[in-house]
Amino acid sequence: MELIVLDTASQIADRAADAIEGLLARKPDAVLGTATGSSPLPLYDELSRRCRAGRISFAKVTGFMLDEYVGLPEDHPERYATFMERNLRSRVDMRPGALHGPDALNPDLQAACEDYEAAMAAAGYCDLQILGIGSDGHIGFNEPGGPLDSRTHVGVLTEQTRRDNARFFDGDIDAVPTHCLTQGLGTIMEARKLVLIATGSNKAEAIEHLVEGEVSEDWPASVMQRHPDALVLVDRDAAARLSRAD
Ligand code: F6R
Repeated sequence: MELIVLDTASQIADRAADAIEGLLARKPDAVLGTATGSSPLPLYDELSRRCRAGRISFAKVTGFMLDEYVGLPEDHPERYATFMERNLRSRVDMRPGALHGPDALNPDLQAACEDYEAAMAAAGYCDLQILGIGSDGHIGFNEPGGPLDSRTHVGVLTEQTRRDNARFFDGDIDAVPTHCLTQGLGTIMEARKLVLIATGSNKAEAIEHLVEGEVSEDWPASVMQRHPDALVLVDRDAAARLSRAD
């Protein structure tokens, strides 16, 4: 695992965008895994800038989202499909329909998970997966306690995650869904490269466990220690608990 501590969110975004630019230069039809939440927003801004400047093109890219809330209506602004359309897909030259997500509107959620895993397998899984991390150590919505080799599944969000995400729902934790569909940790680990972004002191404990802790179901992101090509980009606040940050 490579850890880089940087001063600002925009430096982190630049570094992550460099990894994606390098990938698309080598492989214009790459499969890109996208994360939602606040951490990758500066990266999506930078990718759209580079696309407008003609440095990168997503015209041949296929995308797969990490996860989706269960129970939000199709037109809800916080549905992750809507979020990704707003923050990335519509701002670059990616084809409409090229960015896929698990279908949480399917009344048969189990079938939706199997279909999604099969679609990712058929695409050869992701060349590069963008990740954020929850304050409880989740990646995707793989909450503590789940198996490290899971595949796309229906997940239950912890109280901590629902509290963290209430900021997207006018501060109302009761408005945050309790369930989600998420790529499993095993699905995420299929990606050839992982790029995780974390900023802010509320991520410091999770980053400590990810980088310096034991690989454990208690801190799901720690499974990334077993990945052959994982890049972790953090600011100084998120790195604050690392004993060997220097
Ligand atoms: C989002 C996702 C989550 C978030 C994590 C951090 O698709 O899968 O793992 O990356 O909850 O969220 P932010 O970036 O909002 O702190």
